Amino acid sequence: MATNRTFTMIKPDAVANGHTGAILDDIIKGGFKVIALKYTRLSKDIAGQFYAVHSERPFYNDLVDFMSSGPIVAAILEKDNAVEDFRKLIGATDPSKAEPGTIRNKYAKSIDANAIHGSDSDENAQIEGSFFFTAFERF
Ligand code: TYD
Repeated sequence: MATNRTFTMIKPDAVANGHTGAILDDIIKGGFKVIALKYTRLSKDIAGQFYAVHSERPFYNDLVDFMSSGPIVAAILEKDNAVEDFRKLIGATDPSKAEPGTIRNKYAKSIDANAIHGSDSDENAQIEGSFFFTAFERF
């Protein structure tokens, strides 16, 4: 996967609250091209694997429970400077600190249910995109 790509997940809170369409619209209007898109639900095991980097953090078990609590939408996105620009589009992890107009500011209610994921590096964008999509789905 090229480094002008990032990976995102619309999280269970945002999907359950009916924000999927509005969030995809914000993403596309933000200049991102959708390369791959999947509506699915994570088992606890898969959510735990995805967030394994946080396994020692105090919020890990709650995060795994939350991420497996309902459907999510996963996507690979493409844009120049994708990782950094997407982090700007979604805003800070804690929605109360997210800039006005960012996706987390508009659609998230709390730091643990914060509407959307965005990869934090080119390396993780590659790993996360490959975790969710086969080579054929993300060519
Ligand atoms: P992190 O990688 O720090 O944030 P980001 O998603 O902005 O890259 O944390 C991963 C997820 O873990 C975060 O989106 C929500 C959850 N989380 C909590 O539930 N509580 C916390 O205190 C933190 C820091 C994160």
